[in-house]
Amino acid sequence: MLELKHDLRLAKTRDEHARMNFVSGLRAYVLNDMATGMRASYDAEVEPAFRRKARRAPKDGPEVHQAIRSNEFFKFYSSLRVTAQDMVWQSVFPPLERQRESLKKKAKALATRRPGKLKLDAQLEVPRSVSALDVHLMPGNYDGEYESEDLAAGSLYDNGLAVFSFGLMGQNLDDIGESISRFIKARYPKFKPAEILDLGCTIGHNTGSWKDTYPSAHVRGIDVAAPCLRYAHARAQAQNRAVDFEQMNATALKYVDASFDVVFSSMFLHEVPRKDIAKVLAEAYRVLKPGGLMLHMELPPNAQLSPYDAFYLDWDSSYNNEPYYKPFRDLVPQRLCRQAGFKSTNYVQFVVPSIAWFGEQAVTRAVAAQGAVDSDKTGRLSDGLQWYCFGAWK
Ligand SMILES: C[S@@+](CC[C@H](N)C(=O)[O-])C[C@H]1O[C@@H](n2cnc3c(N)ncnc32)[C@H](O)[C@@H]1O
Repeated sequence: MLELKHDLRLAKTRDEHARMNFVSGLRAYVLNDMATGMRASYDAEVEPAFRRKARRAPKDGPEVHQAIRSNEFFKFYSSLRVTAQDMVWQSVFPPLERQRESLKKKAKALATRRPGKLKLDAQLEVPRSVSALDVHLMPGNYDGEYESEDLAAGSLYDNGLAVFSFGLMGQNLDDIGESISRFIKARYPKFKPAEILDLGCTIGHNTGSWKDTYPSAHVRGIDVAAPCLRYAHARAQAQNRAVDFEQMNATALKYVDASFDVVFSSMFLHEVPRKDIAKVLAEAYRVLKPGGLMLHMELPPNAQLSPYDAFYLDWDSSYNNEPYYKPFRDLVPQRLCRQAGFKSTNYVQFVVPSIAWFGEQAVTRAVAAQGAVDSDKTGRLSDGLQWYCFGAWK
């Protein structure tokens, strides 16, 4: 299990530590070993049976899903994965409950000590897409608040993600932000962003990396969830990163036109209902300065994947309380950018190697290769780890 390195991490007893390690290991087993076994079972049994009946191969993810549903390997994989997901959060609760008060005190002390501002909006209406479900089975979701100044949801997410990711997301879970911002800096050395915005930043783990990459920039993260933002603020302070956090809906940003050089998001759009995605991108276009860059790290679109891989990545939509995941991945990013106002010729997409996985030199190599897109080999589907992102220059 990954050990967070910042001062807000929860202290654990030996038993709690062992439990978290077990859950991390279980997830790694399910997502590596069992996933490989499920694929082999699909190739050997499910796909040939489909072909015999339909006289063709499955044409998309839903057809693969339908065909594999009764397969014993799939059923075992799915039930164990759902159980492991639940265990992630359950493994964090005991130390979190014990340290709830001390965490609040620590956050308060940090808030007054160092740079970086927090602005919450008690009047903001949290969208039902956040308030009405426990996304990826996280109890209470991002916005669950049970006492004043509550930041437990942020701690649950931070410590839970450390268990969940079994070391794949960098030292402090900031590998996506670090790899992508460093890639942009190396690929566009003349681009010097002064104002950077991260949408749906949660606990700011990937927001802070933009500040590390562009230290003189003013970096801000927004989210609708107050408990996560309180935690994000304290976490950034603990890491001595001067980043501002504001409670705001990405569909209605409270910034004037042409305010930012970079509008970024990571793992955000797949949790936004389809009807709101167009609004988010239109807002990103509006608040970007001419010459600015919009960039969204996401899971690759279904149209760029084989039917099996599309089914595999869409598993979360059916079994992990991620209702917007597949609808988002069925969209075409180029079209989304065009509809938001960006010129087709200004569209970009990259596959960025993970620095945590491949080391720093991988960024230089990717830049030399023009950040080539090979979308069959990103995220969980790749041999190593690579991050897919798309966007456009304004
Ligand atoms: C999966 S998390 C994003 C994770 C994070 N950006 C990362 O790099 O791992 C999705 C976040 O989006 C926030 N969110 C959902 N809808 C939103 C909206 N309309 N405006 C702003 N934030 C929103 C949620 O509260 C949650 O914190």
